[in-house]
Amino acid sequence: MYPLLFRTVLSRFDPELAHHAGMAVIRVLGIPPFSWVTRSLCAPSAGQQVRTLGLTFDSPFGVAAGFDKNAVGVRGLAALGFGHVEVGTVTAIAQDGNPKPRLFRLVPDRAVINRMGFNNAGADAAAKRLAKLRRRRPKTVIGVNIGKSRVIDVDKATADYVQSATTLAPLADYLAVNVSSPNTPGLRGLQAVETLAPLLRAVKDAAGSTPLLVKIAPDLPDDEITAIARLAVDEGLDGIIAHNTTISREGLTTDAAIVESAGAGGLSGAPLRERSMQVLHIVRAAVPSDFCVISVGGVETASDVQDRLDAGATLVQGYTAFLYRGPLWARQINKGLRAMRGTGRA
Ligand code: FNR
Repeated sequence: MYPLLFRTVLSRFDPELAHHAGMAVIRVLGIPPFSWVTRSLCAPSAGQQVRTLGLTFDSPFGVAAGFDKNAVGVRGLAALGFGHVEVGTVTAIAQDGNPKPRLFRLVPDRAVINRMGFNNAGADAAAKRLAKLRRRRPKTVIGVNIGKSRVIDVDKATADYVQSATTLAPLADYLAVNVSSPNTPGLRGLQAVETLAPLLRAVKDAAGSTPLLVKIAPDLPDDEITAIARLAVDEGLDGIIAHNTTISREGLTTDAAIVESAGAGGLSGAPLRERSMQVLHIVRAAVPSDFCVISVGGVETASDVQDRLDAGATLVQGYTAFLYRGPLWARQINKGLRAMRGTGRA
């Protein structure tokens, strides 16, 4: 039903407009009595809980950062069956992001290219929303992903991250340091181990007892991924999120002229699947078995999620397939995971 609606109607709308329309519906689904009905249809079952980071996740499957940048749809996303929502990327200073258009569908590849550029209302606004959400005791884990404000020079990034961490850590179940978006100039350079070590140390200090993770890019050479994974362990972080969008355009089936006309940005969706599995193997091999690894990139089905769990992911996230598969995506995944357990695959 949804794929037909997507092909015939939704794909004709500007992707960013479609996202805002979808988010409006999700917000309504988070309000009683709609949330009660949605939850009764979509909630994961009791046996799907995962314990990690000192938290209980109702499902191993959550929403990746970028979908709910301002923490406005958390209750609706939770009602739809996601076991966690990673809010953000939030920056210390509110910003509009890049000029539009900045989000492009590559339908034949079930992918998108985005250069949103961390459009968000800033850490103080996010903190207000999160404080309100906390008072309502949300039935999901809320991670908060923080990034560098665009107007701050890269060499002053640490203070900017620390400001966001100080504001948001008390309101987050976990914090994720995003040094891997391709849409903020200089950001990915922060992944160099010499730069990353002092940054992570300072943010960890500011985060206090809130679990801290780092989100990496898939475009790093394999040995650098290993080095960052070891650094995360050595610096006492709690986990790694692998990974963000790619700047690669390899292996796409969409007409090359359409890909080129989209321009710069991060590619996400189905074409990431293979690299994502490779990165998961590299990270898992470099960290202790109880270290939290969140795998993200190209996940579409319950079988994809189970493959990541089998390969050592503690949790799995997704974003792009939500646009192609529709509002019942998390429900389908939770149901599929349950069915696989029944058949002995899990
Ligand atoms: C993203 N992603 C992202 N990641 C992040 O850490 N901060 C962000 O603000 C965003 N913003 C964002 C916007 C859009 C439109 C997309 C499609 C993606 C990356 C996202 O969290 C995820 O890492 C990748 O999209 C790979 O997962 P999927 O989409 O292949 O499941």
